[in-house]
Amino acid sequence: MTLPLIIAFDGPAASGKGTLASVIAQDYALPMLDTGLIYRAVGYQREKRGLTVDNVPELVEIARTLDATGFDNPELRGREAGEWASQVAAIPQVREALKRFQIDFAHQSAGAVLDGRDIGTVIAPDATVKLFVTARPEVRAHRRWLQLVKSAPDLAYEDVLADIRLRDERDSSRSSAPLTMADDAVLLDTTDLGIEAAIEHARRIVRDRRGSK
Ligand code: CDP
Ligand code: CDP
Repeated sequence: MTLPLIIAFDGPAASGKGTLASVIAQDYALPMLDTGLIYRAVGYQREKRGLTVDNVPELVEIARTLDATGFDNPELRGREAGEWASQVAAIPQVREALKRFQIDFAHQSAGAVLDGRDIGTVIAPDATVKLFVTARPEVRAHRRWLQLVKSAPDLAYEDVLADIRLRDERDSSRSSAPLTMADDAVLLDTTDLGIEAAIEHARRIVRDRRGSK
């Protein structure tokens, strides 16, 4: 019996992990979960309902009853939603309420590809392949600025860089499931890689790691 193929992509904002995860998911015909979207949805609901990060029981209830039907809302991909996500993602009870769904998704019989911050460390420490995708903050900010400026022509690169630095710092220093590379993850630094080259590197890492198990 072949074991399920679980592939974990972790890393900081705009490192390219989501793009790489979807290519690999297609390659292996695996279901994919962008876990950032889940935290973005909770952060968005906090804002829309006028709650603060201190309204923990209400936020846990939002997390517990989250409904994926709203996930195609373009506002979730926006700049503010990234910041709201990072704020609620630092609350341990919110993380706990979102955990079971992610663990079950990762361990479905077909296997799965997930991208986020704590996939290789918390959600699927048993993943077949773990990639930690990163790049210099200035490069990541430029990539994210190129994505966001299409719908926000006045957006300044410096503001996106400041957002990314703040989020890196908060995500890495929180007590619950901080952004950190798993001991058995492979580091993929995409600072000097175009998207096609990054895809080739990711494909090779998955092939090699999978073959060695
Ligand atoms: O696409 P980008 O990397 O900018 O953000 P994202 O993956 O959508 O994640 C938004 C925020 O959610 C992150 O800054 C983290 O604070 C949080 N997050 C998390 O804590 N754990 C995850 N597994 C995924 C996202
Ligand atoms: O998921 P994450 O926030 O880590 O990043 P992403 O949304 O996959 O990538 C952010 C943007 O950078 C996308 O527009 C990618 O096409 C681009 N990118 C790039 O230009 N070069 C790379 N080596 C990786 C990503």
